[in-house]
Parts: sequence; C-alpha cells; structure tokens
Amino acid sequence: MSSIYLDSMVRPEDMARITTPELAQAFIDEVIPAIREQVGDKKVLLALSGGVDSSVVAALLIKAVGQQLISVHVNHGLMRKGESEQVIEVFRNQMNANLIYIDATERYLTKLAGVAAPEEKRKIIGGEFIDIFSEEAAKLEGVDFLAQGTIYPDILESQDGVKAHHNVGGLPNGMTFVLCEPVKLLFKDEVRVVGEALGLPHDMVYRQPFPGPGLGVRCLGAITRDRLHALREADAILREEFDIAGLAGKVWQYFISVPDFKSVGVRDGKRYEGWPAIIRAVNTTDAMTATIEEIPYPILHKITDRITHEVEGINRVVFDLTPKPIGTIEWE
Ligand code: XMP
Repeated sequence: MSSIYLDSMVRPEDMARITTPELAQAFIDEVIPAIREQVGDKKVLLALSGGVDSSVVAALLIKAVGQQLISVHVNHGLMRKGESEQVIEVFRNQMNANLIYIDATERYLTKLAGVAAPEEKRKIIGGEFIDIFSEEAAKLEGVDFLAQGTIYPDILESQDGVKAHHNVGGLPNGMTFVLCEPVKLLFKDEVRVVGEALGLPHDMVYRQPFPGPGLGVRCLGAITRDRLHALREADAILREEFDIAGLAGKVWQYFISVPDFKSVGVRDGKRYEGWPAIIRAVNTTDAMTATIEEIPYPILHKITDRITHEVEGINRVVFDLTPKPIGTIEWE
C-alpha cells in the first residue's frame, strides 16, 4: 500500500479540499495505515512544540504507531502562560504519548542574558533548540524516522525561493533520519479540520500563530526574568478578555509586547515606575500586510484595568495603531 500523502511532494490538482469532519476522517483512514507501513516496527522522533502542525502530526502518529513515537517538547521559557502544561496534559495524560519534556528555561535565559539585538536573540533561540534536540536524539537508540509538521505552503514557499523553510530541505547536524511528514500536502485550514477530527482541543487547533522565538521577541531588547514574567501575565489577561469578548476566533493575531523602559506612574498615592504593556491586534491573510482590528473601547478599558491592577511591574497600557507596512506585526 502507498499513500500520496507520504510519497508525493506535489498536491494532485483533483485532491479535494478537506473542509468537513467526514473528509478529515477519510484522510485519517488513508494516512494511518500508510504511516504504519512506512514506519514498521521502528521508532519515530518528533519535536512537539504544541503548535497546530506538530500537534496534529503527533496525534496522527500516536494513532498509527502508539509508543513507537517519541515526542520531545522543549520549553524554552518563552512560551505563553499554560502552553507547555497543555502539551503535557493533552499528549502525556490524555493520549498516553511517549513524551520527553525538557524544561530548558534556565539554559535559554542564561544564554540570552544581556542580548538586545533582535536577530541575535533569534539566532540564539533557534540554535539552542537545534542543540537541545540533537542532544536528546543522540541519547535515544534505534530511532530511524523523524516526523515533521511540514505543510503544503512550506513546500511551495521553499520551491518559490520566498523563504527557506526550516522544515524543508535538510536536517541539522548530520542527522540521518528518514522523514515522515503526513500533513505535507495539506493547507493550514485542512490541518485544523483534521486536528479536530483527531480529538485535539479546539483552542489548540484554532490558536493564533505564535512565532518560534515566542515571547523572546515580545520582551523587547535584553530579556529579563521579571519583565518576561510581567509580559506573560499581561498576555494571558489579553487572551482571556479576547475569549470573553468573542474576539479570539475573529482577530488573526493579538498579543502584548513589553519594552525595556519604565515610565512614571502613581499607585496608592505613591510614585510607581513601571513598564508599558503594548497591545497589538491585527488582521491579515498572508502576514505580508496587516490591518488593525478596531477593538471597542469598553474592552480596551477592561484589559487596561486588569493588567495595571493584576500585573506587577506594569503601570500603563497602550494600543498600537500601526498597520503593516509600516510596522511589522512583531515589534522585533
Ligand atoms: P512580522 O513581524 O515579520 O511577522 O510582520 C509576520 C508573522 O510572522 C511571525 N514571526 C515569526 N515566526 N519566527 C517565526 O516562526 C520568527 O522569527 C518570526 N518573526 C515573526 C509573526 O508572529 C507574524 O505572525
């Protein structure tokens, strides 16, 4: 038996768009036996970030080969509030996955201490990940396959030369795995429908895009632990209030950034210096251009009130009105 989903790098023109649970189930029914045939009794390694694509690949492989899948979740200390906990809860506790959890927070924050340049921060965060993942892979024996959450736009963009996607075109550090990429012919919306059909939580499958360097590019300038903590708490409040207001499924990307300067404020009659929390809420189709979501003032007031009262170290909230261009979506 063979499957176009595993064998082909080109999506057939007549392939139906997976838009319904029934079509998702048909895909699952076809790809699972194909994965079993490809993998046999060998082990498969997967870097499980908790993002949509790697989560769906994990769920497919757990169904196909169970404990032969070894998932590695690296917490770089730059995740949003509750994210690593959700990965452990869903995959280890609910799906009984063979999951290696690595809390690399100290390692990352030590390496990043004092580094202010955005691209340097990105290089450190990406480089550490490859090092940690390679170290874990070296400890394991008899792993022949590497699963990846490559999706079709990654393949198209790599072919077009738009960007060299990290999932396409080579493995780091002389790794010699055979790739298993079961969703590589699917578009993002299809991966989400498949994820729901596999029983993954709705908020995991429909979550907003989150950059690889995580909160590292939102804790502006040189990252400090106290400011990173304040950012994570403020971001959690923003997400909670967007959920309550019904904006979570409507706005493409929304988050907080916290710059590395303080302004003067007053709390309980005393001078109180704190960082500003910057809200960004944008809509886009391709992330190349973006417009601002016009958040109703009562919602902004509530978010401001909660963040300034509940988050230690923050004394102002501002709303970023800048479209892309001229501002990029992230501040760094
Ligand atoms: P910008 O800031 O370039 O962001 O307008 C466009 C989209 O890309 C995300 N982004 C990243 N994603 N690694 C990622 O995986 C990165 O270094 C990175 N920088 C930006 C950003 O969140 C937005 O969705």
